[in-house]
Amino acid sequence: MKVDLNQLKESNEFLNTLLNHITSLIFILDQQLRIQCVNGAVEESFGKDIKNMTHQIFGNAINCSHAIEENKNCQHTSFCDLCDFRKGLFKVLKHQIPTYKEKVTRHLYINGKKVEKTFVFTTRHIYYEKKSMVMVVVDDITEIEEQRRELKEAILLKNKFLGTVTHDLRNPISAIQNVSWFLLDDSDKMTDEQRLFLKDIYEVSEYMSRLVDDLLEISRIESGKLELNIGYHDYAETIRESVMINQPLAVKKDIKMELILSDKPLMLYYDRNKIMQVVNNLIGNAIKFSYKETKICVKVTQRDRYLLTCVSDEGPGIPMDEIDQVFSEFSKLSTRPTENEKSTGLGLAIAKRIVDGHQGEIWVDSVVNEGSRFFFSLPMDDRYA
Ligand SMILES: Nc1ncnc2c1ncn2[C@@H]1O[C@H](COP(=O)(O)OP(=O)(O)O)[C@@H](O)[C@H]1O
Ligand SMILES: [Mg+2]
Repeated sequence: MKVDLNQLKESNEFLNTLLNHITSLIFILDQQLRIQCVNGAVEESFGKDIKNMTHQIFGNAINCSHAIEENKNCQHTSFCDLCDFRKGLFKVLKHQIPTYKEKVTRHLYINGKKVEKTFVFTTRHIYYEKKSMVMVVVDDITEIEEQRRELKEAILLKNKFLGTVTHDLRNPISAIQNVSWFLLDDSDKMTDEQRLFLKDIYEVSEYMSRLVDDLLEISRIESGKLELNIGYHDYAETIRESVMINQPLAVKKDIKMELILSDKPLMLYYDRNKIMQVVNNLIGNAIKFSYKETKICVKVTQRDRYLLTCVSDEGPGIPMDEIDQVFSEFSKLSTRPTENEKSTGLGLAIAKRIVDGHQGEIWVDSVVNEGSRFFFSLPMDDRYA
């Protein structure tokens, strides 16, 4: 076979350029974990000359703090037996089992300073210069990890702030709500205008009170405090109760509510109050986002080992490009309530977290100008028993 030397040289140059411009660090190590070859990114990352790294043991070459502080070679420090990096390398060299994207955090000395670094590494067995070796591809994710940690802290702080503020708002809002309700009840001597203002005050305080409750709930759930009070209840009874509670709202809009449900009890493990909240929000939304004189259907069926609840309406529907945001917080989409009802945009976000907490799923099918069908599933097994 004739070899085209020019072509060979060209492809060699191409591979070299590729290797030296890749941001991942690539090491080729022999059986004793001695570096045989590295790419340009290694030089840049450790501030060392490639020539000074070749033939050094991996840990020494990257200035592992254990090797430096104990003044021992990599593989001989008191920590080496616990080193995941080393375990990964030997898994490949001895058993040819590759590792894929494992995460390690190490202290290294870079330009004389001890720094904490987090890496993701992948190993693979290869033959290099006809010898059995290991190729290690390392990505430095220290900065991303740091940003993630900061983001987590910021979210925690935000939730704490939200929790404190909303908690402090709760009592004064309840007071306004209660007093205005009390005055409304005894408003015979007021003028029509005064009564109307008072009614406004009552309605706004009722909305604020719901908003505060929802915000408190979201901040509690986001701080990892979704506490489920799981019990063994009849789901059919929960659904019937929820339909009954929402009936007056439906009647106000001349909406007919149909319930399709088995006559038999549907015994299930779930948090009754929380699931009631989910169903109430779905039915409440169906009423809020439906036109007068339309129909709503609540249907419960069994599918495999799941109980499926569907709340469907003949309302305006949700545009395709907004569907993804439906279960996010404050998702006030272009679909607005049909009779100017109040909306906080938190109900479905809370519902999703509650259903997730029960290891179920929640989703929606919707066609603009035809209506929406919200579904959620609850596992029927005894995982909570
Ligand atoms: N049945 C429905 N039909 C059309 N749009 C809906 C329906 N249910 C929810 N949506 C849309 O999803 C948004 C979020 O709902 P939700 O979180 O329950 O908040 P809220 O009920 O306070 O508006 C609503 O504001 C509305 O735009
Ligand atoms: Mg809602």
